[in-house]
Amino acid sequence: MAEARPPPNFAMKFFIEKNYAMLSQQAANFVAQRLCQNPNLVLGLATGSTPLGLFKILAEKFKKKELDFSLATTFNLDEYCGLPLAHPQSYRSFMEANLFSKINLNYKRIFFPSCSLNSCQDYEEKIKNAGGIALQILGIGRNGHIGFNEPGSKFDSRTRIVRLSQTTIEDNARFFNNIKEVPSKAVTMGIATIMEAKEIVLLASGEKKQDIICQALAGPITEKVPASILQRHKAVNVILDKTVAEKLT
Ligand code: F6R
Repeated sequence: MAEARPPPNFAMKFFIEKNYAMLSQQAANFVAQRLCQNPNLVLGLATGSTPLGLFKILAEKFKKKELDFSLATTFNLDEYCGLPLAHPQSYRSFMEANLFSKINLNYKRIFFPSCSLNSCQDYEEKIKNAGGIALQILGIGRNGHIGFNEPGSKFDSRTRIVRLSQTTIEDNARFFNNIKEVPSKAVTMGIATIMEAKEIVLLASGEKKQDIICQALAGPITEKVPASILQRHKAVNVILDKTVAEKLT
């Protein structure tokens, strides 16, 4: 049976930028504005290629003394299982190399989910105790995943260990020596965890994401396309480059 088409979500704000550099600038301006309004900002972070430009600009802004992260708290979306934290491809190492080592976050307020026993519930508690995520940065997988919530993930899912889909393993193999090194499991905030963020910034760029952005933002809301749930969030800012937005407009 065909799934019903969702009504347009007027809560979703779109920013269509000329290129990746401008998308990153817009995203950085957004984070900077929220951090200036609230120095105790609780920020949800994504890894991957898409937010790299954003991280670079945030680090530059910190260097120019335009930003102070000392009171902020961060929660990363996900982490591989089975890689030591110090492994160059762990998301912890990725964040350290691309952002944490370049700004003045307090290390006591940097949080990652962990694959160790009983730690998923603990991660949810930590988010709650921090007052909830005020601003969540998201990328999107070619298969519509957000965090590592792969197609078929329940909309009411919370932080948990998941098996990565073949598409994700293939996409992420570019960071490893070969595909066999890519872990098959990861820990991720759940869809419900992400949806509790007060505000979301979704970033996507490039031709490879054109189709999934269309499906996620203009197609039916379905667990087959995890990011489609964002149509139900009250405050999503979608920052795209012109290329990725081509099929949407
Ligand atoms: C990573 C994450 C993933 C990525 C997605 C897109 O922490 O949450 O959902 O955002 O796989 O990755 P890139 O940006 O490399 O295309």
